[in-house]
Amino acid sequence: MSFLTLKDRVAIVTGAAQGIGYATAKMMVENGMKVALVDMNAAKVEASAGELNDLGGAEAFPVACDVSGMEPVEKMVKAVADHFGQIDVVMNGAGILSAEEVWEIKRADWDKILGVNLSGAFFVAQTAIPWLKKSKHPRIINLASVAGRMGGVGNSMSYAASKGGMLAITRGMARHLGPFRITVNAVCPGPTRTPIMDAYTEEQFADLKSRNVLGRIGESADIAAGICYFASEEACYTTGATLDINGGFWMG
Ligand SMILES: NC(=O)c1ccc[n+]([C@@H]2O[C@H](COP(=O)([O-])OP(=O)(O)OC[C@H]3O[C@@H](n4cnc5c(N)ncnc54)[C@H](O)[C@@H]3O)[C@@H](O)[C@H]2O)c1
Repeated sequence: MSFLTLKDRVAIVTGAAQGIGYATAKMMVENGMKVALVDMNAAKVEASAGELNDLGGAEAFPVACDVSGMEPVEKMVKAVADHFGQIDVVMNGAGILSAEEVWEIKRADWDKILGVNLSGAFFVAQTAIPWLKKSKHPRIINLASVAGRMGGVGNSMSYAASKGGMLAITRGMARHLGPFRITVNAVCPGPTRTPIMDAYTEEQFADLKSRNVLGRIGESADIAAGICYFASEEACYTTGATLDINGGFWMG
């Protein structure tokens, strides 16, 4: 018997074509959840969902969607609800990284980062609220970052602001949605080896490792495990919380 009850629950996972979102969708499907893999990379999300369906567990349903636009988000949530008939979990994983110096950031780049990472997360969750209200165990999970805790870790202020903002909306939404039993929690990964880190050099990885008490860079599955806990029925008494999964990179 599994310790966490995930079977037959329906999740929207954004940013699911690769990296942490994909690892989360995989862990969910392996544990019997039905998962809508949402990503702006249409070809890749189709292929990723295909891989998960080949595992022979529960169903993976690909939806191409840019979470920074209202119309695509509304269409995506409707497509998932029409397909599965329910939505129990929203996991906001879609995100983009930037690394400009404070004095170099252009307004358009700032708006783009905030538009995807923060506004995208908020409006995906908001659009799903009518469905979450009907769920027996409704969950919203925001994939923030240690950058939101520390004010950036070699990345730009726009990224840090978007992730700090996610921590703020996690607590605010938890407060406002508590009366509907919808829990809202955040997971804060430290540096994790995924395609988003492709631009990092081995020297930069070595530096990040040296600042980590467990002496290694995180893997996507390390983060997915925390997300799956929040998605489970058992996590019913945790809301407004932030789970730091970073190998001790940051201890507050
Ligand atoms: N990898 C890390 O070290 C790390 C650390 C802390 C937080 N995070 C956060 O975790 C999340 C996932 O990161 P990852 O490392 O898996 O990155 P990744 O680049 O591997 O995956 C991100 C996915 O999001 C998708 N995406 C980007 N913009 C989108 C949009 N507008 N609409 C829909 N999909 C979009 C991409 O196509 C991609 O598939 C991000 O929010 C990131 O900020 C990552």
